[in-house]
Amino acid sequence: MSQALPNTLLTDNGSTPMLADARIDGDTIVVSWTDGMVSAFHQIWLRDHCPSGLHPSTRERLWDWSAYDLEINATGVAVTDDILTVSWPDGHVSTFDADYLRRRRYDDAARTERRPQLDLWSAEDIVRRTPNVDHAAVMADDNALLDLLIKVRDTGFAIVRNMPNCDRPDTDWPCETVARRIAFTRETNFGRRFDVISKPDPNNQAYTHDALLAHTDLANREMPPGVQFLHCLEFAAEGGESLLVDGFHAAEELRADDPGAWTVLTTMPVAFRFHDSDWDVRWSGPVIALDVDGGYHEIRYNPGIAAPIDVPFALVKPLYRALTAYAARLKDPRNVLAFKLRPGDMMVFNNRRVLHGRGAFDPSTGPRHLQGCYVDLDEWHSRIRVLQGEHRLD
Ligand code: OGA
Ligand code: ZN
Repeated sequence: MSQALPNTLLTDNGSTPMLADARIDGDTIVVSWTDGMVSAFHQIWLRDHCPSGLHPSTRERLWDWSAYDLEINATGVAVTDDILTVSWPDGHVSTFDADYLRRRRYDDAARTERRPQLDLWSAEDIVRRTPNVDHAAVMADDNALLDLLIKVRDTGFAIVRNMPNCDRPDTDWPCETVARRIAFTRETNFGRRFDVISKPDPNNQAYTHDALLAHTDLANREMPPGVQFLHCLEFAAEGGESLLVDGFHAAEELRADDPGAWTVLTTMPVAFRFHDSDWDVRWSGPVIALDVDGGYHEIRYNPGIAAPIDVPFALVKPLYRALTAYAARLKDPRNVLAFKLRPGDMMVFNNRRVLHGRGAFDPSTGPRHLQGCYVDLDEWHSRIRVLQGEHRLD
């Protein structure tokens, strides 16, 4: 049912390494392992992570950090039966399992290893290895579900093939039943689910037959939806081919070719706004947002709903220059994966990384009908951890 645990826990031959030895070294305790690895833990870290400080059922910490002694000095350490025992000056004794310590070590190498290994792609690259999964397998088998979750986490998208038709539109739609295998769905001002069809008086460009340039949905929200599901029910119209672009890959190209533009887009907030007769939702954020370690966090890009540019006078031209440079990369045919959805296909993509769009279509040549919904990334990552058994670890 669940996949193997992350290999940080395992040695090269697949066995779990044992604790070999531990010694006090200044304000740290240095632990050595039977595979030769050595890991240092601060004494204050070990005191703070003593399992006795957690509620037995909730596993929440029972204290705060206000009364901590930063210079705490253990009176002894011992290793027996793969347990590290630390004795503290107040008489308290902490015990730690080997696999807990192995998994939680925080030297530079371990922290680097734990960072997400994203698979950035150009169209030329991904067209030969487009991630696909089968609907029936995803619904019946947790391993197939995990495969879908991991593909979208790492590559940013996958296509679910052989989706059933929507025979009962008054109950859960097929896209929702797949989404509910993962978690609850994310509701927005477009509802908890939405039909993508050409309709009169649209409040969104998606509900026309016009082309949609590469964009992320709901860039105007503080937290745009995480993963988007777009299920193709009917497609007989001419045109309307889908496109996907890896926004992180395009950002990496920009960083290499035009670091000044990259710096502008990673630091300067750009405003987006959606408004109709019922809503006026606005948010500003960098087009390319980085995380605290400098890795890519999200792309926020939707020219159709960009609000009037309102940045300091001297920065207007640099911002336009940067937007122009990034927009060109998003249109570069080498970056744009273009394909035609068939009825029964569902695109599933990280809306905060992979931009999507479509070509114009001619509704007089036949129908085109997609159904969609969203699941947020917190739920996505949580489901991966639960299927992998990570949630039971400490
Ligand atoms: C959308 C959208 C693309 C399409 O509904 O958000 O971008 O192929 N649709 O119609
Ligand atoms: Zn969209």
